[in-house]
Amino acid sequence: MPEDLDTKPAVAGMPAETCATDPRRRGLLRAMFGSFLGLGFTALGAAGGLWAAGTARFLFPNVITKPPSRFKAGFPGDYPAGRVETRYKDEYGVWLVSGFYNGKRQIYALRTACTHLGCITIWQEAEQKFKCPCHGSGFSMDGVNFEGPAPRPLERYAIRIADDGQLEVDTSRIFQEELGQWTDPGCYVPA
Ligand code: FES
Repeated sequence: MPEDLDTKPAVAGMPAETCATDPRRRGLLRAMFGSFLGLGFTALGAAGGLWAAGTARFLFPNVITKPPSRFKAGFPGDYPAGRVETRYKDEYGVWLVSGFYNGKRQIYALRTACTHLGCITIWQEAEQKFKCPCHGSGFSMDGVNFEGPAPRPLERYAIRIADDGQLEVDTSRIFQEELGQWTDPGCYVPA
């Protein structure tokens, strides 16, 4: 004959009729319920934390670090007349030029961005000019615009001789020819 489950004690060693009303059993059930509830809230909290972290990462993606605004570019003697140094183009957006302006030989740092809509210009050695690939503006070696829609010359960055004798370019300061700022000694090194 099958065992009557209703009469089986829920707590081992305790008579069935006393289990339902026994305070120890109720306490045990309450404790078990509390544990499960606690586990549930813990899991919920962890999931919420992960969600918040994911959302924060989406809203605040990795910061793109900018290069420092100042950099050393070797000694003036490294720049014979007519040289356009292109190695600082990608990292700093700079053409370092040993050229002439108003008949005077100077070393200056031109900003690579076209003054039309900001495309990056290209140095064309054979034609001795900076050419914008977007709409065809052209700039002579001194940075002055002479063809295409660019309304003004390329901009210059600050440049000086540092204490160690090297050229130091500072891209946080800009000088514009059309504002008469290229006569400022802060934007060229006499050569
Ligand atoms: S952005 Fe250079 S010509 Fe338009």
